[in-house]
Amino acid sequence: MNEVVLTSDDSSSIYSSRFDALYHSKHGAIQESQHVFIKSGLQEFIHLRKTQELNVLEIGFGTGLNALLTLIEAESRNINISYKGLEAYPITDDLFHKLNYSSILDCENEFNSIHSTPWNEVSTISRSFTLFKKKCLFQEFEDEKRFDVIYFDAFAPNTQEELWNLDMMKKMYSLSRNGSILVTYCAKGVVRRTMQEAGFEVSRIQGPPGKREMLRAIRTT
Ligand SMILES: C[S@@+](CC[C@H](N)C(=O)[O-])C[C@H]1O[C@@H](n2cnc3c(N)ncnc32)[C@H](O)[C@@H]1O
Repeated sequence: MNEVVLTSDDSSSIYSSRFDALYHSKHGAIQESQHVFIKSGLQEFIHLRKTQELNVLEIGFGTGLNALLTLIEAESRNINISYKGLEAYPITDDLFHKLNYSSILDCENEFNSIHSTPWNEVSTISRSFTLFKKKCLFQEFEDEKRFDVIYFDAFAPNTQEELWNLDMMKKMYSLSRNGSILVTYCAKGVVRRTMQEAGFEVSRIQGPPGKREMLRAIRTT
């Protein structure tokens, strides 16, 4: 059975019995998401491209924490973000109600909206943030749209080898455009090389608390 657990920064995460893995780092779920996806992905893209409007794709929507942190960033910077979160196995309401992100981040209404909004349609969650939660396997996902920032937040390669192969990296490349940024918490050499083979320029950068490095990939053509 899946269950909610507490991580070292006092924010919750979920243990998945299907994958025998945690949804976040045990060293801190909020700290990890903020560092890997917001600071190293979203903020870096905004800094480089100086844009007021962008599309984010998340692979592995899970608890909705990355979506919530992205909404907070959009509101505080007054920029428009259109967010698509893919999830094959949505969490239950029971687990959702046990997560403590909205009390830590003081945004109960926003987090409730993120969760109660229907799957497979676009919803306006706030002035600056629209959300499309898509229930599907990433392997089966197709979209005409090209995304500016991709949060690749699948379970680790030793747990979900099928999501870290060259086909999946090429798929992410084709979902991006020149200047797009892809970030993941994973820093493995084989992942880095597979991303490079798919066409990305990849750097190892400072990881979140408890982890030395992570990967940031940029599409340059
Ligand atoms: C590491 S957790 C992601 C945590 C999430 N980003 C969060 O902040 O809560 C990985 C997520 O990917 C989902 N997942 C696993 N296999 C998938 C697949 N093939 N396609 C889409 N989502 C998948 C899992 O159900 C889980 O929610």
